[in-house]
Amino acid sequence: MRTPIIAGNWKMNKTIAEARELVNAMRDDLTRLAANGKIEIVLCPPFIAIPQVAALIQGAPLRVGAQNVHWETKGAFTGEVSAPMLNEVCEYVIIGHSERRQYFGETDASVNKKIKTALVHHLKPIVCVGENLAQNEAGQTAAFVGGQVRAAFQDIARDDARGIVIAYEPIWAIGTGKAASGAGANAVIGLTIRGALADLYDEATAQQVRVQYGGSVTPKNVAEFFTQPEIDGALVGGASLVAADFVAICKAAVK
Ligand code: PGA
Repeated sequence: MRTPIIAGNWKMNKTIAEARELVNAMRDDLTRLAANGKIEIVLCPPFIAIPQVAALIQGAPLRVGAQNVHWETKGAFTGEVSAPMLNEVCEYVIIGHSERRQYFGETDASVNKKIKTALVHHLKPIVCVGENLAQNEAGQTAAFVGGQVRAAFQDIARDDARGIVIAYEPIWAIGTGKAASGAGANAVIGLTIRGALADLYDEATAQQVRVQYGGSVTPKNVAEFFTQPEIDGALVGGASLVAADFVAICKAAVK
């Protein structure tokens, strides 16, 4: 049994004061939903708000994650944040989000390096994959997403691989209000993503890795995803910035 994991990716939103307000507005509800261990809930604020959010949820069964990490652990990398720094304040880290690949030049190779560094420093990676609209329409989804998974997991040992979370986020569904269909996402995750993991490792590993869906998840459409057998939760952008919406999405995961 895979425990569903719902992560809120706040992206570049919320000042420290606003982060405090948002966490205070949903902490008690999220705590109740996560209390029995049936689901895992992760909040991923901007770097600067992470310590504040971590302090606010201390003692609650909630997790904190970062949205990026560098592959080196220290040194002359102006503006970057390292895994040992994050390890003091959070448990998860999103790696290879499509916005980082698109706007900040991240590649399959840098994603692979970041995953390896995160694992060494006991951060749990949430690795994002997903095809763009042109690839989707050209029928290249399986080849492209399968390739992203193989590249991300290159030279990663099976025991480490089992602890990695994958987020399947079709780029055309992110922030567009046009989510994938539950059945469509389920097929990509079951056949392509778990298929690639089975090729790389074995069927047991493919069945153990948790795979989220992401892209325009809302309280309205979330049931469509959480009722799919291959989908183990969601990576939520816009709706994670609204306390009532994020709580409603987490509530749907408990059902
Ligand atoms: P969205 O973003 O929910 O706003 O579409 C999801 C994501 O990019 O993680």
